Amino acid sequence: MRSGIPEHKIDEIRDATDIVELVSGYVTLKQKGQNHFGLCPFHNEKTPSFSVHAEKQIFHCFGCGAGGNAFTFLMRYEGTGFPDVVKFLAQRAGIELEFEQEEQDPDSARENEALFHINEFAAEWFQESLFADSGKPAMDYLKNRGLNVDQIKSFGLGYAPPGWDNLMKRASETANSEDALLLAGLILQNDAGRRYDRFRDRIMFPVWNLSGRVVAFGGRILEEVENAPKYLNSPETAVYHKGDVLYGLFQNRDAIRHERKVIFVEGYMDVLSLVARGVANVVATSGTALTEGQARLVRRYTRNVVLMYDSDLAGLAATLRGADVLIENGLDVSVAELPAGHDPDSLIREQGKDAIVQVANQAGSIFEHRLNQILETEPKNRTHGIRALLESLTRVKDMIQRSVLMTRAANQLGIEEKVLWAELEDLSRKRQHQFARRSEIGDRLRDVGKGSKPDRSGKAVDDLVRILLHDWSLAEFVFNHLDLSLVGESDKLSVLTYMRNQHTGGGSPSEADFLHQFHDVGLAQFVVGELHTEWEDGMDLHKWAADCINALQRDRIQRQIDILREELKGAADDPARVREIVKELGELERLKQAHISC
Ligand code: GTP
Ligand code: MN
Repeated sequence: MRSGIPEHKIDEIRDATDIVELVSGYVTLKQKGQNHFGLCPFHNEKTPSFSVHAEKQIFHCFGCGAGGNAFTFLMRYEGTGFPDVVKFLAQRAGIELEFEQEEQDPDSARENEALFHINEFAAEWFQESLFADSGKPAMDYLKNRGLNVDQIKSFGLGYAPPGWDNLMKRASETANSEDALLLAGLILQNDAGRRYDRFRDRIMFPVWNLSGRVVAFGGRILEEVENAPKYLNSPETAVYHKGDVLYGLFQNRDAIRHERKVIFVEGYMDVLSLVARGVANVVATSGTALTEGQARLVRRYTRNVVLMYDSDLAGLAATLRGADVLIENGLDVSVAELPAGHDPDSLIREQGKDAIVQVANQAGSIFEHRLNQILETEPKNRTHGIRALLESLTRVKDMIQRSVLMTRAANQLGIEEKVLWAELEDLSRKRQHQFARRSEIGDRLRDVGKGSKPDRSGKAVDDLVRILLHDWSLAEFVFNHLDLSLVGESDKLSVLTYMRNQHTGGGSPSEADFLHQFHDVGLAQFVVGELHTEWEDGMDLHKWAADCINALQRDRIQRQIDILREELKGAADDPARVREIVKELGELERLKQAHISC
């Protein structure tokens, strides 16, 4: 179990939790037979389509398709991960978890706890120092920038006073370990072995993770001086990976969920300034490139991301290109256009909340934005921009969305749509190829499976799962013919594996079985969505399943071929190897033909 919590504990906690009672804490429910109905907390509605089934212990919304069990309900509602939800429900049910967890990986668990603890100790002391007399300059600075005591407290802001060893002294007075300070990067050690505080005379911004623990700090200089960095940050540690945090997400997650939209800004101060003036659905990327980790974090709350960066920023173009990682992770990205010379902080200070809300509401899709940028350049200089745009479009998974965007691009650029499609196909292929090239040739069989990009084989895998959800009688056929190692990195692999095991054991899983099995909000939604979708009669599911398996096999063969061709290029001075490769290639081509024709 990935959560590190043993399966039997999870079962015990689930059994001890009544989903009706749990959900009632969040949603007003009315009973009708076995079902309890209420207004869905996951989408806006006026008539209840959200139901909780007491006997099956699952929920489902007929309106938005959300579904799952007690764990996935809370994960979705609170936006937290499975382990946190399990811990919370265990505590609620009075079930002891401590012991097992210690057993899992005592060293790293202890190290993490030590890091949280020392960071929280430091945060408390920084805060004390901010509120002390000696913290007055820092406090005045923050108040001048429009923050009040409530925000200062809810974001845990603090002040590291001037001096080389304030924090160290405080730690020793309170029996906090200096080694922990070092581990957390709160103190540094010079070559002579002397230790000193990292943060001196700086306003301190604690960075929180989604469980509300302090994982790091940013420290802002009070007055900008030459040669001193404006911000100093904690180094990466076991509990802090720069790419896996969004500043302000912990405090602002409810607002983000409520607004169904998150605004990405550049700086800590932008977040605080907006929150102080009533725009709370905001997080900062803190001057780092956008990452998949951030996409995953924010996706728990909303799919709508508005990038609101200073338009003069030299890095804006790069940031927009960097947004591909958000698109690829299923987010809808739009770009807000701030008036020239403004950042979110200065705009809201000058023109108030409404100005920011308006700019955010008017934000157009990132594709429109980039298309407009292309249209502003001379036609003869557009090639590069167009190609970059198409490259981004290859990452849009939703085919309908992709095709709408392609039509629009073709119309506005005055280029025939089929030309753009051809180019897009070409770019997709190149990307897949690059992907294959990256893999070690020696490991090629293993990589063949892994390298199956979600684009093409992913669809076949999804379809297989859907087919089996609709017609379990095909399990026999599917699992007799499908080699699960072909499935690559699809998120559905766990569902297929579960299905295979059920099949092997002679079972036929019910909806409730699935929902109790997958503690992943997205998977639960996928499964419920499928189970509640009626398919037309008369579809040849058997043939469809066969096609999918075939596609996966063909894909693997193609990938092997690609890898061998690549190897062939480098084997020119080894005639024996060349002969071998050519022979292998011939066999693979024959195999591929066989698959295409069957
Ligand atoms: P103010 O200047 O007070 O408005 O702060 P800000 O938070 O708006 O900062 P700014 O827009 O200048 O920079 C955006 C973000 O980039 C900051 O919040 C920091 O996370 C980061 N950053 C800025 N300057 C530095 C620096 O000198 N070093 C590092 N490591 N990060 C920085
Ligand atoms: Mn700023």
